[in-house]
Amino acid sequence: SIAQNQVTLKAEEAKHTINRHIYGHFAEHLGRCIYGGFYVGENNTRIPNTAGVRNDVVDALKKLKIPNLRWPGGCFADTYHWKDGIGPKEKRPSIVNAWWGGVTENNSFGTHDFLNMCELIGTEPYLAGNVGSGTVQELADWVQYVNFGKESPMSNLRRQNGREKPWDVQIWGVGNEAWGCGGNMKPEYYANIYRQYATFMYNYSPTRKLFRVASGASSNDYHWTEVMMRDIPTSLMEGIALHHYSVLTWDDGKKGSATQYSDEEYAKIMKQALLMDDYLTKHIAIMDKYDPQKKVAMVVDEWGGWYNVEPNTNPGFLYQQNTMRDAVLAGATLNIFHKHCERVKMANLAQAINVLQSVILTNEEKMILTPTYHVLEMYNVHQDALMLPVEVKTNDYVLGDIKLPAISASASKDKNGRVHISLTNIDPKQPQQITLSLGSVKATGVTGRILASGDVRDHNTFENPAKIKPAPFTGATLKGDQLTVTLPAASVAVLELN
Ligand code: AHR
Repeated sequence: SIAQNQVTLKAEEAKHTINRHIYGHFAEHLGRCIYGGFYVGENNTRIPNTAGVRNDVVDALKKLKIPNLRWPGGCFADTYHWKDGIGPKEKRPSIVNAWWGGVTENNSFGTHDFLNMCELIGTEPYLAGNVGSGTVQELADWVQYVNFGKESPMSNLRRQNGREKPWDVQIWGVGNEAWGCGGNMKPEYYANIYRQYATFMYNYSPTRKLFRVASGASSNDYHWTEVMMRDIPTSLMEGIALHHYSVLTWDDGKKGSATQYSDEEYAKIMKQALLMDDYLTKHIAIMDKYDPQKKVAMVVDEWGGWYNVEPNTNPGFLYQQNTMRDAVLAGATLNIFHKHCERVKMANLAQAINVLQSVILTNEEKMILTPTYHVLEMYNVHQDALMLPVEVKTNDYVLGDIKLPAISASASKDKNGRVHISLTNIDPKQPQQITLSLGSVKATGVTGRILASGDVRDHNTFENPAKIKPAPFTGATLKGDQLTVTLPAASVAVLELN
């Protein structure tokens, strides 16, 4: 039976913009994200590339309009010494990637490779500095190396390595998961260390001030956020991070299959994903207490679903497939970020290629786009648009003792006045009918696109890469100021009003 859900646009209450940086991505030296994913080496004659970076990947990420890309980690960042990755490639030292499979890292992809790649993609770099095993001087030098235009030891070294103009990198992470792989620090200790590091990260550009992000809490660790906000002055911190993964358990091998999951596993993962709303509400309340003027941004720089690795792949490489579950998870999460866009100014899906909830998977010369890619592409109409608040009355999706909202929604108005409404049906079994009241928004017609498939476990493969792709949506009809929408089970739609 098709029940009734109610969505109401509250355009007259619109105040805040959806920062495009909410649509950011993450590229760690982990498994096949960099090597084989982004980068195949400049001597590769089999896979078309520009300075070693795959052309197919660049094209796909351009279409996605990715606003920023975080690098080189994650946990790897606090082991990374950036000077290992500059200068002639044959002279760069090989190191061990201790966190991720213990593989040899030959440093052939370094600072120049990454920053030039960002220029190619048309995305802003987000560099994660090494606090855990680095030094204040090392991070200060990195900032000078990439950002300083005049004479100095580091800017001269950059020129020697072939780059005249500074890249002018604005977004910087000051360590990663300092409570864990970034040094197992207590919050008070890290807050002090943060203050010290941030002090020596100079603004070399008079117009573009650095945007420094403090390592943030995991999921519902409110104490971490409390201490950061209490102990770090807003003059030293532009953003504070939050990491939240949708995961059944942190026990290795018990995270459930990325494709062959039960209905119960689906519901549990989706419940984890939807907790983002509650977590953000509570972290933001703490931030509001110390920073009522909202100077410091919330930066959710790691989010996504985390499952068992694909059978017969390196457990340290975190390579997982991506189904319609991930599409629904992404749609619902982005709707949550939109809702909190007054404080949430940036986010990074983990990770872009071949790691965790990827938008792209590669296998040698083959590349496929995942259902998650398509959701982020459909949703990119919301980037830098005015968020229109929505009131949502939803049916429940109930499985045993798990109760989830059946639908999730968000809306925005772009610079050309076009209104887009994103709708996600979380119910994996039943279509959902929605009555959508436009309120003061005037429309004469509606078009849209939808991502759906026969089964929530469906996914794209190298053999069948376009099984799941957006299709024109015909399930919405407009009558006066009301839309009637029927969303298929486990689907994501974006409507445009005319
Ligand atoms: O994204 C994978 C890992 O998850 C990152 O390296 C780390 O920051 C987090 O624990």
